[in-house]
Amino acid sequence: MTKNNIDSDELDSLNTLAAGLVHEIKNPLNAISINLQLLNEDLENSNIEKDSKMPRRVRLLQKEVSRLDSILSDFLRFAKRHELHLESCDINEVIDSVLDFISPEAMQNSIRILKSYDTKLPKCNLDSNVMKQALLNVILNAQQAMPDGGELIVRTYGNSENIFIDITDTGVGIHRDKIDKIFQVYYSTKKNGTGLGLPAAKRIIEENKGTISIRSEDGKGSSFLIKLPVNSKHHEE
Ligand SMILES: Nc1ncnc2c1ncn2[C@@H]1O[C@H](COP(=O)(O)OP(=O)(O)O)[C@@H](O)[C@H]1O
Ligand SMILES: [Mg+2]
Repeated sequence: MTKNNIDSDELDSLNTLAAGLVHEIKNPLNAISINLQLLNEDLENSNIEKDSKMPRRVRLLQKEVSRLDSILSDFLRFAKRHELHLESCDINEVIDSVLDFISPEAMQNSIRILKSYDTKLPKCNLDSNVMKQALLNVILNAQQAMPDGGELIVRTYGNSENIFIDITDTGVGIHRDKIDKIFQVYYSTKKNGTGLGLPAAKRIIEENKGTISIRSEDGKGSSFLIKLPVNSKHHEE
């Protein structure tokens, strides 16, 4: 029988191999970046002709190097196996720290952040640091979907078994035909996108025994709904 699926041990060693490769690429890339920076300074201090294309070319190289670096960082974050450090968390606080982080940029982009939290939510057993990364990926997408401003509405609610986080934006929305693609690795419609944000978010949420789903209307906006169990027992499995 032909083998189409790789098991999780094989995936682990592939991930380790790939992460090693990424680090090997990052080091020389770092050296290139530093030297481009120095070259830039040399150019500024030299008396090259005004219409020289050199400074522009160096800047272009710097931009491409920094793009390569962010692709590699995204990949590392995605490939990394998370060892979960579970703790009892107030999910509203976890969300707030992500919103505090992005709010200066949101304000600059005329995005209003509206919060509607259930303050009586039960505590959730999860790894707050990796969960922040997942929420950040979803919230950054919402922000990027509203280049001309809009509203970012974050709502939490729950019952004795689950808590729900609804992240809604009034942005460009997603066409019905594309909805199935957005969680695929490397799917991106953005010029500088890596297509790893949502797959990483989904993986983190599932590692925390939750789910993520989406509703979207093309041209009107999107809603991501994250469901997390209240008393997750995954550390006992
Ligand atoms: N809130 C959103 N509104 C509109 N489109 C979205 C939203 N979130 C995700 N998408 C779509 O899903 C794609 C994949 O998202 P993601 O995995 O984060 O990669 P990236 O942000 O690097 O493109 C995006 O390129 C975009 O087309
Ligand atoms: Mg993204």
